[in-house]
Amino acid sequence: MASERSDRVLIFDTTLRDGEQSPGISLNAAEKLEIAQQLARLGVDVIEAGFPITSPGDFEAVQGIARTVEGPVIAGLARTQAADIDAAWGAVKDAERPRIHTFISTSDIHIVHQLQTTREDVVGQARAAVSQARSLVDDVEFSPMDATRSDVEFTAEVVAAAIEEGASTINIPDTVGYTMPNEFSAWLARLYELVPGMKDVVLSVHCHDDLGLAVANSFAGILAGARQVECAINGIGERAGNASLEEIVMLLATRTADIGLRTGVNTRELARTSRLVSRLTGYVVQPNKAIVGRNAFAHESGIHQDGVLKERTTYEIMDATSVGLEANSIVLGKHSGRHALRQALEELGFEVSGQSLNVAFKRFKEIADRKKTVTAMDLEALVTDELRQEIAGYALESYEVHASLAQEPSARVTVGLPDGSSVHGESSGDGPVDSVFRAINRATGVDASLREFRVGAVTEGQDALGEVSVVIETAGESAAGQGVAPDIIEASARAYLRALSVALRRGENAGGALGGGREASAELTRTP
Ligand code: KIV
Ligand code: ZN
Repeated sequence: MASERSDRVLIFDTTLRDGEQSPGISLNAAEKLEIAQQLARLGVDVIEAGFPITSPGDFEAVQGIARTVEGPVIAGLARTQAADIDAAWGAVKDAERPRIHTFISTSDIHIVHQLQTTREDVVGQARAAVSQARSLVDDVEFSPMDATRSDVEFTAEVVAAAIEEGASTINIPDTVGYTMPNEFSAWLARLYELVPGMKDVVLSVHCHDDLGLAVANSFAGILAGARQVECAINGIGERAGNASLEEIVMLLATRTADIGLRTGVNTRELARTSRLVSRLTGYVVQPNKAIVGRNAFAHESGIHQDGVLKERTTYEIMDATSVGLEANSIVLGKHSGRHALRQALEELGFEVSGQSLNVAFKRFKEIADRKKTVTAMDLEALVTDELRQEIAGYALESYEVHASLAQEPSARVTVGLPDGSSVHGESSGDGPVDSVFRAINRATGVDASLREFRVGAVTEGQDALGEVSVVIETAGESAAGQGVAPDIIEASARAYLRALSVALRRGENAGGALGGGREASAELTRTP
């Protein structure tokens, strides 16, 4: 089947929509724009920038991306309601190439229990939504949600209606990550048989990882004829996540001689995109994660090391540099000036000027004073961290910690509030980090508790920058944050404040206009 179609697989990135719906993640407009710019640099074909009806914040973020990011198609998600479609269009209409992506469930489980309607109504809603979207834009994608648990004959009826109304991409979601590769290809083959119009549209697949099969199922979809894959950086997304973009892309790139398909992705940008998403979302990449994990190209056993030293291909199927894991070059030293920093940042793809350059330079000097050399990875971590602090609600202004064997650890912090004022807090605790977290709670008046705490290092070596990731819980919701600093306690404080800021922003977004905030609206069902 694949041979009759183009050999190009479109990469539809949903990091900013499905990925951003992961528990604990909440990106603001500036962070989303930063990720979208990097996705464009990576060369994805479509960026699903968000779900504009869900909150004014989401609307503005999608609009900002549509107005700024050049290259990829910019898609906005919409249920079949007219207001959703209007909001999606309002947000994407200024893009070079806008798309509306509308969806409705076709499984009886969803139709009966969630939508509480009938199959007939679903067909009508799908038809009306696609027709409305097509009256606004040529590029319309339709998804029958929970397709893999739906009756294929009924789904075919809905898909045929969507194609008749002008949808040009039909996306088949394995919404709850339930299907298996052989079952999925058979399901898609049957869809092709039932809907003759499928041959004239792009088949897309959107697989979740609940059984760890998202990439395998997406690949089965490709072999069954899909020429668009929906995926997310680092595989983030609802519950167990979406198919991981980097894994799909490298599968097609590494086995191209056998598969004969290609993507437009610049694979050398993969590692960097992964790091950016991890830092901004606070979601740590597991060390053994395929392609972008810290150990993805590391060899521990003596036999493997010996083999690789003699000939890399003995134990490596990909070259680390092909995914952007370059040697971590030294770029700056203690005496480097503002101009050198700016140049180095530009080489790394960051445009920093004015006040941002002053802030970056101040942090660079603090680091350079404590570290002999500052590497590309250090700079990248620092700038991403600074970007977060700048736009986050709370900022670390100062901290002091007293800890010794003889006395209970205690901390004093000064925290900058979103309105520009400062507050102080003091507390003792079980250790220096715990004291700082408690002091921050006192200063901000937020009752948060720590759920997860991880410490890592940006680079190797004793003077490496520390990178801390936390997940906190406040008011029954979790929020994630990361912080980077030469000192682990400072990195911890930054990570904790970042997570508090995420929680704060969520609280502000809840109850927004356009149908209510995502969390606050009982009517609006989060998409899996
Ligand atoms: O998983 C899903 O079904 C979705 C749809 C909105 C495509 O995310
Ligand atoms: Zn999904």
